[in-house]
Amino acid sequence: MMSKTILVTGGAGFIGSAVVRHLINDTDHAVINVDKLTYAGNLESLAPVSNSERYHFEKVDICDADEIKRVLTTWQPDIIMHLAAESHVDRSIDGPGEFIQTNVVGTYTLLEQARAYWSSLDGDKKAGFKFHHISTDEVYGDLPHPDDVAPGTELPLFTETTPYAPSSPYSASKASSDQLVRSWLRTYKLPTLVTNCSNNYGPYHFPEKLIPLVILNALAGKPLPVYGKGNQIRDWLYVEDHARALVLVALQGEIGETYNIGGHNEKQNIDVVKTICTILDDVKPKDAPYEEQITYVQDRPGHDMRYAIDASKIQRELGWAPQETFESGIRKTVEWYLNNETWWKAVLDGSYQGERLGTGS
Ligand SMILES: NC(=O)c1ccc[n+]([C@@H]2O[C@H](COP(=O)([O-])OP(=O)(O)OC[C@H]3O[C@@H](n4cnc5c(N)ncnc54)[C@H](O)[C@@H]3O)[C@@H](O)[C@H]2O)c1
Repeated sequence: MMSKTILVTGGAGFIGSAVVRHLINDTDHAVINVDKLTYAGNLESLAPVSNSERYHFEKVDICDADEIKRVLTTWQPDIIMHLAAESHVDRSIDGPGEFIQTNVVGTYTLLEQARAYWSSLDGDKKAGFKFHHISTDEVYGDLPHPDDVAPGTELPLFTETTPYAPSSPYSASKASSDQLVRSWLRTYKLPTLVTNCSNNYGPYHFPEKLIPLVILNALAGKPLPVYGKGNQIRDWLYVEDHARALVLVALQGEIGETYNIGGHNEKQNIDVVKTICTILDDVKPKDAPYEEQITYVQDRPGHDMRYAIDASKIQRELGWAPQETFESGIRKTVEWYLNNETWWKAVLDGSYQGERLGTGS
């Protein structure tokens, strides 16, 4: 395959940086990373690849139309992979405005600039252009939970045709952006595709999210906060498996299609927390088991009870399958945090020190 120039928005974030590392380490494509560097953006996550001649960074807000125009004109990308977003449900409960701004207005701005740029192209460059919008399974709302149905009832999964029913300001803003992207294809023929993925975990994850928060609180001897009864179910996917899926879709996905991406790893939050404790008991033992640090806290308002993805379409049509099981991926993740103290200590010296967010009060 000819090497392409891929513009990645949000490339300094958790998933974006995994995409950029994968593109630089495992392909010949060039990367333009467009990121505003909010609290969640961290150039240290790109240290393994930032010296590559194929990597370029542009500190730009996707809501800034003039700057996006300049970046597109300068770098002439073949593909846009749009990951930049406000991504934390709890923060969206405390302050939804930023989510509407970046996720809705920012996506609109990027679509309009992409359309102008794409219209200016011709020949193979125009025919091959793609706008890949990266979204979440949270747009579908939540699914029936095993505790709420009769034993033996078959539980449904999210498919690409599940109707949207977002519950939080975050998922509503992502749902809006997905629909904008689809309408730019239908109305303007901008060649777009969309992916909706389940919860990711892995290295370089900002410690406000469940898995890194639990690992770092456990190591610090702090309480391990579990929302409500801890029986909420998520379908966990190792971030590097997601990055591989995204690059596959960007390069080989069909225009106009949606692909659901998931790990076939439905776990209750409490079981995730207990698994982390067991791994830590093994690799970094202390006097008392880490499980003794678990504390149950008031649940998140509007908390979705269950997400689970049917990823059969991307497996069937593009041949993608996750390489990590939950057991292998979670152990790698715990070990990564144990071995990368410099990365997370610098993050915790910033604006976030592990405090509870999103109580809605
Ligand atoms: N984390 C998950 O489990 C998950 C699952 C499915 C889909 N997603 C989606 O994947 C994408 C990436 O998620 P993540 O977890 O890596 O998020 P993240 O919060 O770790 O990173 C977001 C990145 O976007 C940048 N950004 C934010 N606002 C910006 C703006 N206005 N202009 C330019 N850059 C801006 C931030 O600086 C940061 O680097 C998001 O669109 C999210 O909705 C996430």
